[in-house]
Amino acid sequence: MSQLPPVLTIDGPSGAGKGTVSRIVAQRLGWHYLDSGALYRAVGVAASWADIDTSDASALVRCTFDTRIRFVEQGESLRVLVNGSDATDELRLETTGALASAIAAIPEVRAALKERQRAFRVAPGLVADGRDMGTVIFPDAPFKVFLTASAEERATRRHKQLKEKGVSVNFDDLLREIMARDARDAQRAVAPLRPAEDAVPIDTSGMGIDQVVATVLGLLPSQEA
Ligand code: DC
Repeated sequence: MSQLPPVLTIDGPSGAGKGTVSRIVAQRLGWHYLDSGALYRAVGVAASWADIDTSDASALVRCTFDTRIRFVEQGESLRVLVNGSDATDELRLETTGALASAIAAIPEVRAALKERQRAFRVAPGLVADGRDMGTVIFPDAPFKVFLTASAEERATRRHKQLKEKGVSVNFDDLLREIMARDARDAQRAVAPLRPAEDAVPIDTSGMGIDQVVATVLGLLPSQEA
């Protein structure tokens, strides 16, 4: 058994509810939380601030090393500071997600973020949310989950979320973007989106957040949960 603090990895495609579920589960357990997608998004934002072209891989890799990223708890919300500026709202944009997905396909960018992600493994434990948490970053994690939901269901949820924020987007465009991002994340050569062999798959279609949280917590021994 590893002497390192325990990790619960929660991987899956965008919009499967990973972020919300991971945050609540981390809170319930009193564990730390890693939103690994936010790191890729932060690099994307920093690159766009620096006018770096997405085809310029070496500049993007330099940018990954140079970008300072800090997570700051502010009441209920988690703010993300990129090079000292609050980039939380820009980070959540669909365009930033697409940019992050493109940047995340560059192997050297992934390598540059590896140790930063592993540094989040601090006692009493970590809930790590992403695409390759269980396969590449924390392959020895004792608890692994792979959350899925149909693309239509994920697009419906994202559409509702955006509408609540006052952002109006076309449903079909959203569905197309989600499917394109799934395909890019699943087909890239390095650390593609796929469940770890020892991950427990949970299809969240038709499930409420509370139900998913309870299912995930139910996988942990009672002394952890
Ligand atoms: O989870 P998210 O939507 O915030 O992630 C944005 C993009 O970052 C996602 O489309 C692919 C990439 N990503 C990744 O490649 N590996 C991770 N562990 C997390 C995110």
